[in-house]
Amino acid sequence: METWEVIRTKRAVRDYDDRPLPERVLHRILNAGRLAGSARNAQPWRFIVVREASQRQRLSRCGRFARHLAHAPCVIVICTDVQHRRWAAFDAGRAAQNMVLAAWDQGVGSCVTALHDEASAREVLRIPDTFDIQVAIAFGYPSPAGEGPIHRFIRERVLRVTGRRPLHELVYYEVWGQTSHHEG
Ligand SMILES: Cc1cc2nc3c(=O)[nH]c(=O)nc-3n(C[C@H](O)[C@H](O)[C@H](O)COP(=O)(O)O)c2cc1C
Repeated sequence: METWEVIRTKRAVRDYDDRPLPERVLHRILNAGRLAGSARNAQPWRFIVVREASQRQRLSRCGRFARHLAHAPCVIVICTDVQHRRWAAFDAGRAAQNMVLAAWDQGVGSCVTALHDEASAREVLRIPDTFDIQVAIAFGYPSPAGEGPIHRFIRERVLRVTGRRPLHELVYYEVWGQTSHHEG
């Protein structure tokens, strides 16, 4: 897909078919995260790939809205070094966005997911105290299988309802609150 098309059509996908992600597809997703920029180029992240069903089941109980983690063929949990807390969430967000866009570009849907019960998630994944948990991201081919559903998904969910606030509510010019752009 063209870059703009990937950005424009990317939506959270929570229903997946049971095809596993091919290694090359997963590899590109991980690389997209790795290549993200970060404050002072600290690259404060670690990416935990969770594919075993039992681990995904356990993780799915660590978030209030995380049931889909049990059904996605692959989950990636982003952790960040506590020594880089100031920009960690921002950095992790950049890595996460790179990953989900790289996934969507390959026809793979995803859903960023909060792990509210951080203590349990830490135990399940054996994450040391020196790292914070940022988010889990579920990845999988949109259900049901095939190329068709992606296009159907775009048509039905993206083109019909964009689900985003319009620019005029979000953009100010020169100073806070100025919604129109005055020339000269
Ligand atoms: C930090 C963060 C946490 C999220 N947590 C959850 C979650 O726990 N469960 C879930 O189903 N979606 C979760 N989402 C996905 C959002 O609900 C989704 O991005 C938003 O509704 C927009 O969806 P759309 O792109 O399909 O329009 C989370 C997203 C972010 C960025």
